[in-house]
Amino acid sequence: MQDIRPKNMAQRRVVYFIIRGMLFFLAIFGLWRMISLISENSNAINKEDELKDNHVLVEVYYESMCPDSKYFIKHQLVPAFEKIPEVFAFRLVPYGKAKTTENSTGIFFSCQHFELECLGNKIHACGIKYITNRSRQLRFASCLINNIRNPQSAGESCAHEVNANWDEIEKCSNSKEGSELLKAYGEETHNLTPSVTFIPTVVLDKNQGHQKDILKNLLKEVCSKYAGDKPPSCL
Ligand SMILES: *[C@@H]1O[C@H](CO)[C@@H](O)[C@H](O)[C@H]1NC(C)=O
Ligand SMILES: *[C@@H]1O[C@H](CO)[C@@H](O)[C@H](O)[C@H]1NC(C)=O
Repeated sequence: MQDIRPKNMAQRRVVYFIIRGMLFFLAIFGLWRMISLISENSNAINKEDELKDNHVLVEVYYESMCPDSKYFIKHQLVPAFEKIPEVFAFRLVPYGKAKTTENSTGIFFSCQHFELECLGNKIHACGIKYITNRSRQLRFASCLINNIRNPQSAGESCAHEVNANWDEIEKCSNSKEGSELLKAYGEETHNLTPSVTFIPTVVLDKNQGHQKDILKNLLKEVCSKYAGDKPPSCL
């Protein structure tokens, strides 16, 4: 067998030099990978905060106990937001086919899915007011509407889930504040043209367009409205 150990000092020095060089290279490479991974991650987190100036505005007219609203938020709005948060802003308008009456004793609502839905709408409205971070706001609304049969008991756990202050939201939803918010959403809903026939109604840049297409593929419709360079998720 051949002895592969370096025979003299000079050879040994060369070997050490090479090994040191390799270790140095590995360390630099590792550091570079680490830095690029960290910045990739923070890009992903910050992506949603960089709403493009020419973004599309998506307005969702819905109601808290409506299965079609739930379906749209869960299967269209949330996935689209996850893919292209920088391309569209959204506004949630939780009123639907409710009715508002006002007299000297207060503001009253009657809702398509009855009393509990009115309260659910108020919880949505108050959540929207107090959770201003839009990704958390959307997570709150979709969590609430996923628990469609009991928006009130879901309110607390959903608020917890997105780190929101439930006391504030609950207090709002049980007071005049919540009624005023809901009344304003009602006026906005009644003022839509053409007037609402189906809930949810989803408006892109103030235009109802083809509701069927929007409800079926929000991502595609928003992408085609968006005038800027299409992000990869649009293609
Ligand atoms: C106000 O409206 C509510 C709900 O419609 C009704 O129950 C109540 O009796 C009204 N009060 C007055 C003073 O008209
Ligand atoms: C909104 O909340 C998300 C998730 O908690 C966070 O990553 C993001 O930085 C927040 N955006 C702003 C503008 O605070």
